[in-house]
Amino acid sequence: MHDILIKNGHIIAPGEGIDQIGDIFLSDGRIKQLGQNLPATNAEVIDATEQIVSPGFIDLHCHLRQPGFEAKETIQSGTKAAAKGGFTTVCCMPNTSPPLDNAPLITYVNTIAANEACVRVLPIGCITRARNGEELSDMVSMAQAGAVAFTDDGNYVRNPNILRRAMQYSLPLGLPIIEHCEDADLCDGGQVNEGIIATTQGLCGNSSVAEEIAVARDIILAEHTGARLHIAHVSTRGAVEQIRQGKKRGVKLSAEVTPHHLTLSEEALLGYNTQAKVSPPLRTPADIEALIDGLNDGTIDVIATDHAPHRIIDKQCEFANAACGISGLETALGSLLKIVHNGKLSLTTLLAKLTCAPASILRMKIGSLQVNAPADLTIFSPHKEWIVDSSNFVSHGHNTPLEGETLHGQVSTTIYSGKVVYRNT
Ligand code: DOR
Repeated sequence: MHDILIKNGHIIAPGEGIDQIGDIFLSDGRIKQLGQNLPATNAEVIDATEQIVSPGFIDLHCHLRQPGFEAKETIQSGTKAAAKGGFTTVCCMPNTSPPLDNAPLITYVNTIAANEACVRVLPIGCITRARNGEELSDMVSMAQAGAVAFTDDGNYVRNPNILRRAMQYSLPLGLPIIEHCEDADLCDGGQVNEGIIATTQGLCGNSSVAEEIAVARDIILAEHTGARLHIAHVSTRGAVEQIRQGKKRGVKLSAEVTPHHLTLSEEALLGYNTQAKVSPPLRTPADIEALIDGLNDGTIDVIATDHAPHRIIDKQCEFANAACGISGLETALGSLLKIVHNGKLSLTTLLAKLTCAPASILRMKIGSLQVNAPADLTIFSPHKEWIVDSSNFVSHGHNTPLEGETLHGQVSTTIYSGKVVYRNT
């Protein structure tokens, strides 16, 4: 592996409080030196003039679909999409087929990743066997095999006693429980946010209360057990407030929000647009404001993509039958920079939510530009204009509600473990 010298970039590493113009020297897969006018010697030089140089992004929540749904995505195609989006670490969800509910399947993902992934893949195991909510999975052996958290994502753990037991098992493992907080009974088959769009389109509504009750119950269980709870894809104002209050009480809580819940409202569903159908559903502008406030005051720790690739036929069908999800890795940065460009979030806060904050939930020494940290870096032009054309996605999933949209900000180079894994040529 050759050495790399990144020259003259605007280096921002929120975890270390670094915000300066300078150079970074990478050798042996690690960050070796940060400074001014570093000599190139025999290194490959990457000119980062007028670009941001950040720790590689970390995605706590994405769907790589392998094993079982390789037509939607594979570990290889999903990690290529990650690299293109500036992500050097992705945590993959266990709603595969079979679901990742035992140690051999965690080992399977790690083995495929070792051979085929171009960025770091960290598997997440199921809370319950087959994600059916009835029996606990083999959490201890999955942790020993390398699972970094547990979730039944896509499903809420309906039985509170099962979740309580899962939390108790997670405690000595030190790993978080990630919950998809939507009470299925209250969702009542709702397809879109309960409100004006559901009413005018004649679609079944999914009330924000379904999320808020689920969040409230889980926070009480986390408080009771002392376990670490991470709330996935928060979408409502009420849920943000529940989390804010839970954190004030000292519950071991963290939370994430997706780029789509931050930038798109329920209006994107007008015309029965299946590309904007997600779970939980897109909400109202008031919810979006509350989510951004939550990012700014630290209530929401992390931005995670919930990259959910699907086949064309999974979306080109009747609204009620369409799959939920957006192929989001390749558009995440461009979407998120809108919030920075309109002055509602600072670039440093955005980068913290994509780097050091997820690293601290994983308790891993990544998402950092400290000397000797792994050389995982993302270089991007924050203003570069480009038009979303899903036919250019490297993900197998071309499902996006952003088709034809102009975004500002694009990754030019992604470096994982000291190797260039993506270059926008
Ligand atoms: O929109 C979603 N799609 N939300 C989820 O929780 C699951 C995901 C998927 O697996 O497609």
